[in-house]
Amino acid sequence: MYERLRSWFSVDMGIDLGTCNTLVAVRGEGIVLNEPSVVAVKKGTNEVLNNGNAVGWMAKEMLGKTPGSITAVRPLKDGVISDFEITEAMLSYFIRKVNGKSFRFLGPRVVISIPSGITEVEKRAVLDSAERAGASRIYLLEEPVAAAIGAGLPFVEPTASMIVDIGGGTTEVAIMSLADIAVCESVRVAGDDLDEAIISHMKKTYNMMIGEQSAERIKIEIGSAAPVGEETTMEVRGRDMVSGLPRKMILSSEEVREALQEPVQAIVEAVTRTLERAEPELAADLVENGITLAGGGALLRGIDTVLSSATGLDVVIAEDPLTCVARGTAIFLENIEKLKDNLQSDMDV
Ligand SMILES: Nc1ncnc2c1ncn2[C@@H]1O[C@H](COP(=O)(O)OP(=O)(O)OP(=O)(O)O)[C@@H](O)[C@H]1O
Ligand SMILES: [Mg+2]
Repeated sequence: MYERLRSWFSVDMGIDLGTCNTLVAVRGEGIVLNEPSVVAVKKGTNEVLNNGNAVGWMAKEMLGKTPGSITAVRPLKDGVISDFEITEAMLSYFIRKVNGKSFRFLGPRVVISIPSGITEVEKRAVLDSAERAGASRIYLLEEPVAAAIGAGLPFVEPTASMIVDIGGGTTEVAIMSLADIAVCESVRVAGDDLDEAIISHMKKTYNMMIGEQSAERIKIEIGSAAPVGEETTMEVRGRDMVSGLPRKMILSSEEVREALQEPVQAIVEAVTRTLERAEPELAADLVENGITLAGGGALLRGIDTVLSSATGLDVVIAEDPLTCVARGTAIFLENIEKLKDNLQSDMDV
């Protein structure tokens, strides 16, 4: 009875607090918010512009229009909070934005996904931020568990399944069975490192500086982990490091693939290491069930091929890999009583 009443007066949210993107899913409604994890602050301060509202898309828009006096801050790095104050401002804005729409009075119950390798101090930081952002009750859910649920893996059944979530800051690799993580590894190599590899390649090979956004565009447009389909080229613009002047050049997909080899190999090694640590019975199940990829990095061309040839297992990309974790938190909310034992933390505020 109490639960039913509270569902009228508050909204339950699942939050995928990611290094690149933050998504919010509401019980019964699906994904209601999907914005970049970016905040615009006054240069040299921690002051969030626009009365605390310069967050997500709005921050991106402001940055384009008023460069110079404002800076973009990504408060999460490598999957964890690197700037507490700004993370709190960001979380608070997103929670208010979603809760505000529903005209309800109670603070929301929230499930937040966190990387599996995070320390107690880092966990505390997430809890504190959500608490101050107005959540009445906070649950932390390990990101690979959320991804597995979102990808529709047989998470609670007595058969092993494997998820590899390649995000912006971390890659989470986990083998699960019977609603629990059997083996997992979280490495701080993911999408951002692929962008950085492209930036450093341009510097080393052509003495050319390119921005993070250009690097990401190159990765998405012509990047790959293995040769798949036709090779292409792309025009790249940046600044010549010797003359200091703007410059453009043509970059090939083969060259980008070469530049991405190191971080791609680091991801492959995290996967093979995790497999080596699995009990034989679990490994045997994986011959049948294969590996499922989630996160934005799953969209890198050929990453499935590379992982499949390194492990000898079938590799499939989850449907809509960028929203897997958020959808998983929403499904988790719907089954919270049943799945509670798998929570990282259950904090009443
Ligand atoms: N088509 C694509 N090809 C390659 N990479 C992509 C593609 N689309 C998105 N990405 C990359 O996916 C990453 C973002 O993925 P995602 O939203 O899953 O990360 P996140 O959840 O914010 O990060 P984390 O889980 O590490 O905190 C970025 O590095 C982005 O460049
Ligand atoms: Mg993620």
